[in-house]
Amino acid sequence: MRAVDLIAKKRDGQSLTADEIDFLVRGYISGDIADYQMSALLMAIYLRGMSSAETVALTEAMLHSGTVLDLSDLAPRRVDKHSNGGVGDKTSLVIAPVVAAAGVLVPMISGRALAHSGGTLDKLESIPGFRTDLSLQEFRRALDRVGVALIGQTVEIAPADKKIYALRDVTATVPSPPLMAASIMSKKMAEGISGLVLDVKVGSGAFLKDEEQSRALAKTMIGIARGLGKDAVALITDMNQPLGRAVGNSMELVEAFETLKGRGPDDFNQLCRELSAEMLLLGDAASTLEEGRSQYDRLIGSGAALEKMREIIESQAGDARVIDDYELLPGSPSRREVRAGSTGFVSSIDTEQIGRASMLLGAGRVRLDSAIDYGVGIAVNARIGEEVGSGSVIATIHFNESQSADEAEDLVLRAYKIESERKPPPALIKSRLT
Ligand code: URA
Repeated sequence: MRAVDLIAKKRDGQSLTADEIDFLVRGYISGDIADYQMSALLMAIYLRGMSSAETVALTEAMLHSGTVLDLSDLAPRRVDKHSNGGVGDKTSLVIAPVVAAAGVLVPMISGRALAHSGGTLDKLESIPGFRTDLSLQEFRRALDRVGVALIGQTVEIAPADKKIYALRDVTATVPSPPLMAASIMSKKMAEGISGLVLDVKVGSGAFLKDEEQSRALAKTMIGIARGLGKDAVALITDMNQPLGRAVGNSMELVEAFETLKGRGPDDFNQLCRELSAEMLLLGDAASTLEEGRSQYDRLIGSGAALEKMREIIESQAGDARVIDDYELLPGSPSRREVRAGSTGFVSSIDTEQIGRASMLLGAGRVRLDSAIDYGVGIAVNARIGEEVGSGSVIATIHFNESQSADEAEDLVLRAYKIESERKPPPALIKSRLT
């Protein structure tokens, strides 16, 4: 087999066999297939799509590119959640400690920022010293000690996703349902879980803008999980406006800490509560969703979830004092207020543009080797349905370089639509698929 022939086959709209997909994934991991060839293949997949059989074959090839963990000796039920990307989506930073504080083992393999969407690993790495690159042994030890650990794909676990994910980020090949399904499920199925909660986003800030497409992706991923003997449930949730008020790595971390202290924004807290309840149900720590929601309230109210967060940070070599002193986190020296140009009600927010604005400030990558600026981001002041006066502050940009702040301001201003009629805010949770 030759990579160039298989790229041409996909480019011309034909299906690849499982053996061909395996050859391509293995070749890329070993270095026999170059970045430029994988980039071309990814673009061909993005444009041509994949059949269900190809998607399953790609997931399996990526899953078996590394070790598939068995953690059944640590706990009978091991549960994780994954979102397919959004703006201000920091739920993992709240859910992981909550669910672990309830006694369910949470082995979480997350991703970095992807295109306009933020990534859990980059947010965690805002914490001085925090290590997301634990070896397999260290991951196991952390899980045994704390009941939860959050790491990235490694050379041992899901190495194919580690390489392909970074390449997709900078080659405009993220919003592809088969590539998303294989990326998410290859790392989730490698982490030794018994159950998975999927948060599949839809709306202007999601990779998939259409609800039918999001439902199809959710069904594909549930099918893959079931095929591998795992429980799975998906919530289709709104991404027509940023989740919570903070967009940007250390700013989002602060919002997550505030939520763990019981002071989080309503929409963000509500989504964390629902996703946690689903995880507690899959983890046999609650017998109904209502019981799971009450547990969430109790674990936040008692401070147990916050204490678990402290343990996570300490166990992964981070400076846990950041929980009490946000000044220890990276910040940005300058602020700029973005003001509404007219009076009325916010009727829509092009949320992808808010994510792009944050990325332009330095919160994401434009090249494989770009460095992240953890302190920059956007505080969202006005949300859909809220009344604004001409000149009132709709967002605040936290920045380091004034040129990128100019571009970000322009994007934010154009993202907001203000109309004279009030439209109700979109429902946060659209449906639940099992
Ligand atoms: N999250 C992932 O892990 N992969 C994707 O492709 C999108 C979101």
